[in-house]
Amino acid sequence: MAFQRRIFSGIQPSGNLHLGNYLGAVRNWVALQNEFECIFCMVDMHAITVWQDPAELTRSTRELAAAMIASGIDPQKNILFNQSQNPDHASLAWIFNCVARMGWMNRMTQFKEKAGKDRENVSLGLFAYPALMAADILAYKATHVPVGEDQKQHLELTRDIAQKFNHDYGRELFPLTEPMIFGTATRVMSLRDGSKKMSKSDASDQSRINLTDTADAIADKIKRAKTDPEALPDTVEGLEGRPEAQNLMGIYAALSDKTLEQAVADCAGKGFAEFKKMLTDVSVSVLGPITAEMRRLMADPAYVDGILRDGGEKARALSAPILREVYDAVGFLRP
Ligand code: TYM
Repeated sequence: MAFQRRIFSGIQPSGNLHLGNYLGAVRNWVALQNEFECIFCMVDMHAITVWQDPAELTRSTRELAAAMIASGIDPQKNILFNQSQNPDHASLAWIFNCVARMGWMNRMTQFKEKAGKDRENVSLGLFAYPALMAADILAYKATHVPVGEDQKQHLELTRDIAQKFNHDYGRELFPLTEPMIFGTATRVMSLRDGSKKMSKSDASDQSRINLTDTADAIADKIKRAKTDPEALPDTVEGLEGRPEAQNLMGIYAALSDKTLEQAVADCAGKGFAEFKKMLTDVSVSVLGPITAEMRRLMADPAYVDGILRDGGEKARALSAPILREVYDAVGFLRP
């Protein structure tokens, strides 16, 4: 069965949007919006799988929407909304909780990382998180999901759930969604440790560049970023075994719209002091206008809320007929 090409992606409003989110996801979404029908979601229901201060969650949701618009996502062309506005995500997630197997969920590395040693004490929602993610995507029969590398396993699970649902209920209701992982920065690492992913939940703010950072903060974080004592190599292979150099060079290449080869050629033989100045300049010139536009949008929360409400309605209109098909397949009497 052929499914209409449709893009869905989500992002958690659980704190600062950082350079990893921007380069690994949002920037790629901007590039896709002219080619596909796109739905972009602020996943507030995913965010509360770990404690969120309510007022802060509201603020972060607006800020994230502002960041996406400021990054170039056109709210007229795409659907932009926060997840909790469309209850179809939760309805479908419950059904998927009954399709997914414990064994599949137990294998999720993100759960293991987030739960750590405190497994008995994390929320049930954190464990079921990937089934809700599958519901986000499949409530719209999305065929493609642009994400950073860390979401790959969750997308494999989404395919497993779709396949098992289709098999168990004897109809090709859901597509087998494809991940889209592209660009030069699919896995941006911490500025303090090149072996750790740049993340919202890292206790050190020095580990990430936030989209709300001032030019001075960006310069300071790059200045203090961990490096090694060698000069920069003249080949991409020369970055191997040098995680911090590799990460900073990847960021530089992505922000200056160059291939890694071109970026390495630009910087061959330079010391980190000189390279860090180049990296600061390009970071400030790309992120500065986005930050300024975010601030302007945040000064008008009613405008941002209006966009999300509008997007929520459009999203519900798309998912409602799909949920009716699901209810019929499962044998639920429809409301
Ligand atoms: P989240 O909010 O952690 O991240 C949002 C997007 O940013 C990407 N990303 C990165 N890319 C490169 N380097 C990094 N250091 C980095 N950190 C984050 C993520 O891969 C993601 O694309 N579970 C998802 C949210 C979600 C979702 C969905 C995504 C919920 N439902 C449905 C796609 C489709 C998450 O926690 O992303």
